[in-house]
Amino acid sequence: MQKVLFVCLGNICRSPLAEGIFRKRVQDAGLADQFEMDSAGTASYHIGKAPSMGSQQMAIDHGASLDGQRARQVKASDFDEFDWLITMDQSNMNNLLRLSPTSANKIRLLLDFSEETQKEVHDPYFDNNYAMTYHQVETGCRGFLAFLKSQAS
Ligand code: 4NP
Repeated sequence: MQKVLFVCLGNICRSPLAEGIFRKRVQDAGLADQFEMDSAGTASYHIGKAPSMGSQQMAIDHGASLDGQRARQVKASDFDEFDWLITMDQSNMNNLLRLSPTSANKIRLLLDFSEETQKEVHDPYFDNNYAMTYHQVETGCRGFLAFLKSQAS
């Protein structure tokens, strides 16, 4: 069993989408019983809120669902509970490293698992460019799953 936490700032745009897309890819690969995933934000602004409409729509457009997700903040026990804390940008990553320096080996940028030169997932909160965010999340999730499968074999 691998437990994966996707992390952004508010937990309403990028990390809920990453959680939903990764869950869908894992299901499609027939690996649902080998993974647990969740998402969280480093900030507290949006605790309890559903994912943004743009992220929900992107998920639906690509056969996934964010139903039932509610924003929460990263908590200390996450660093023990999860095998991987996968961050959307460098600032989230720095925040996690500050909270738990000893967890550095399990904190990674999602786009480190992508071939793209851009290593931060676009934040669609202000410009609504969810298509760009989706594309990056998709390539990152595909690369991350391939990495985990290669590690397991
Ligand atoms: P997220 O996007 O971190 O992908 O959920 C944002 C959500 C809220 C804010 C910024 C980004 N905000 O400034 O409230």
